[in-house]
Amino acid sequence: KLTFPFKVDIDFATGHVTAPAKVLTRRLSDLQGLFMDSAAYEQMLSRENPVLYDVYEIQVPEEAGHLASCTTVIYPGKVGKEYFFTKGHFHTIEETAEIYTCLRGEGYLLMMTRDGRSRAIKMTPGVSAYIPPYWAHRTLNCGGEPFVFYGVWPADAGHDYAAILDKGFKQRVMEVDGKPAVTE
Ligand code: PA5
Ligand code: NI
Repeated sequence: KLTFPFKVDIDFATGHVTAPAKVLTRRLSDLQGLFMDSAAYEQMLSRENPVLYDVYEIQVPEEAGHLASCTTVIYPGKVGKEYFFTKGHFHTIEETAEIYTCLRGEGYLLMMTRDGRSRAIKMTPGVSAYIPPYWAHRTLNCGGEPFVFYGVWPADAGHDYAAILDKGFKQRVMEVDGKPAVTE
């Protein structure tokens, strides 16, 4: 089936994408068990259930050959001393890569392999990071404004959250003396 060319408009300030885009909203309650300070998590959740991030996905067929893309907006905030982050995932087809380009704000891209390697890349506007095949990826906002990035990946790659929900990420980014610090 032939797909016809199209365009969308991306608002770099808000991350909003004009149709055809699908919005996915993740709240604090969707990230149960992932933050280091579980007492701070429970305490925050007992008071409020804030949106941690929104994903605006540009709709294409989920088939080999197509490229899927989205903007992600992570709002500023912390659970205890740990900055708001995305769930993080491996791709279901693990030998697929992804590119993240920062449009606004300040954050980190954390990556790890199943055999225990990890890398962190600081993301500021204009930084474009390459996530090679086999690397799980999570992003976080360590600034005071929305952190917005644009990601592109093979449309059939899929998202596999199981290992992250089970074991989490090795690296974390916490506020230490008022500044973000990457912990091993
Ligand atoms: O495909 C990607 O890597 C991104 O679009 C992410 O899905 C997005 O940033 C949200 O993160 P997660 O899927 O880990 O909740
Ligand atoms: Ni991905």
